[in-house]
Amino acid sequence: MLVRAGIMDLTQFVERLEALAVQAESAFVAASTSDAYEAARVEFAGARSGQIKTLQKDMGQLDAADRPAGGKKLNEAKARIQAAMDAAAERLTNGSGGSPGKVARQSANGLDPTLPGLSRHLGTVHPITQTIEHLKEIMGRLGFSPVEGPEVEDTWHNFIALNIPEDHPARDPLDNFYLAVAGASSIDASAENARLLRSQTSTVQIRVMENTQPPVRVISLGRVYRPDEADRTHFPMFHQMEGLWVDRGVTMAHLKSVLRMFATAYLGEDVTIRFRPSFFPFTEPSVEVDFLWNGNWMEFGGAGMVDPNVLKAVGYDPESVTGFAFGLGVERLCMRRHGVEDIRDLYRNDLRFLHQF
Ligand code: PHE
Repeated sequence: MLVRAGIMDLTQFVERLEALAVQAESAFVAASTSDAYEAARVEFAGARSGQIKTLQKDMGQLDAADRPAGGKKLNEAKARIQAAMDAAAERLTNGSGGSPGKVARQSANGLDPTLPGLSRHLGTVHPITQTIEHLKEIMGRLGFSPVEGPEVEDTWHNFIALNIPEDHPARDPLDNFYLAVAGASSIDASAENARLLRSQTSTVQIRVMENTQPPVRVISLGRVYRPDEADRTHFPMFHQMEGLWVDRGVTMAHLKSVLRMFATAYLGEDVTIRFRPSFFPFTEPSVEVDFLWNGNWMEFGGAGMVDPNVLKAVGYDPESVTGFAFGLGVERLCMRRHGVEDIRDLYRNDLRFLHQF
């Protein structure tokens, strides 16, 4: 039956309330066991579909003008039912013969066993940490071992060994977080020992190659820092996943296959990969990496074949080994997969957001 507002008149509503109160009172008077009491409680005062609840919903069918009066009557009926219920509970708990059972609202020591328990809020792992674990797991299946490097770097690992010359704009103090040196009045960004918060995880490529002989097949996931204004897609600190594979005969075809397998594993089968020619001082040729996903092209980072100058800087022989490297934005991957639209949401520490992961 379709119900329209204003379809029931007040007298009718009050009659139904009266009938309900009488019915409830006799049910509670008749209840001689805790089971009978509980059945009556559910029937009349049940929070979801008890009869009072039903009548309360039906109040919407009263004429707007009658609703205040209807509400008053409803409260009176509720109070009567509550009183009948309390009397029955009291009788069953203390009186002769009645079993306290579930009816006990208060035990001797004042504890109310029917109250809901205290809920404890369990912490969750931050979405970026979860993403990092997931990416490590996928790349691990492709044979890449995770490695780490320091977040405070020197110019050798962040620039020089990566073939980034002194006059390169990437070394500009305005684009990096250089650290002040104790006792020095200004920062000398060109000094070999100048220190900075790393601006890219490519630093870890150098650290690994300095310490291991080829073949190497590693990923490094960690924070990088750039003095960018925070907006929906930028944050002065973010994470990159750096990948490096150096061995005999590694080619662009390997790079493309690895990134495609990674992308389908992380985002799903519906992924196409596209390389756009680009430039990085430490790779040649260099590309920007786009994924076509759900009908949109999206840029995830840069990649390329490790520049022979870089291989030489770490003591590798560019005549015998080749390699590829890539660097992808971790936040961007996480945001795409989970539909997060503002990178700042990841770092506001708002538990309502974080608890969703
Ligand atoms: N380090 C580059 C960046 O931060 C990305 C990159 C990594 C490019 C490895 C090529 C090879 O933009």
